[in-house]
Amino acid sequence: MKFFIDTANIGQIERAADFGILDGVTTNPSLMAKEGIRGDDAVHAHYRKICELADADVSAEVIGTDFRDMMREAETLAALDPRIVVKIPMLPDGVRALHALREKGIRTNCTLVFSAAQALLAAKAGADYISPFIGRFDDIAEQGVELIRRLTWIFDHYSFDSEILAASIRSPLHVVQCAEVGADVVTCPYAVFEAMFRHPLTDAGLEKFLRDYHTSH
Ligand code: G3P
Repeated sequence: MKFFIDTANIGQIERAADFGILDGVTTNPSLMAKEGIRGDDAVHAHYRKICELADADVSAEVIGTDFRDMMREAETLAALDPRIVVKIPMLPDGVRALHALREKGIRTNCTLVFSAAQALLAAKAGADYISPFIGRFDDIAEQGVELIRRLTWIFDHYSFDSEILAASIRSPLHVVQCAEVGADVVTCPYAVFEAMFRHPLTDAGLEKFLRDYHTSH
């Protein structure tokens, strides 16, 4: 399973990349705004910086919602760096754009996916990644992990090339559950990544080992 981080924060990306286990970065317009990145030039410079730091796939989202705007923006974003994967929203024009970008050799990540029907359309259109938002799905009393499980079955059965990228991750449990049902990728916020390291028995065990070492020396 690939491990991505869901942030536009340079410090968090640097720290995550330092562990050597980072396979990619996902961003979205809300995460960019949170970092105070505004204006096309600043946004493009920020994406370039993230690509250098992560040296892995970096999802950069279009703002346009009609076919022509999405295509224009996608070509601009893809030209910034070969590691850019263009995030396209799940819309009828988005599906058209996914197909057209595939023909042009531009890699894509279909975002805001909440159903197997939507994921099927994106897979047929040739999206490289498909991003179901499992936390937001849980928020409306649906089952995000169950959606991932259904998608892995369908995609395996028909040998679709698209990778299932579980997004909107809220906890280490989400990460583990996505791994158990066969997600290809999980993208998680830095706080979830940090929480994955922690276990009280690890802390207590280490404290005792060190105490015993020091009392016997
Ligand atoms: O990047 C897309 C997704 O991961 C957003 O997550 O926490 O805003 O639902 P969240």
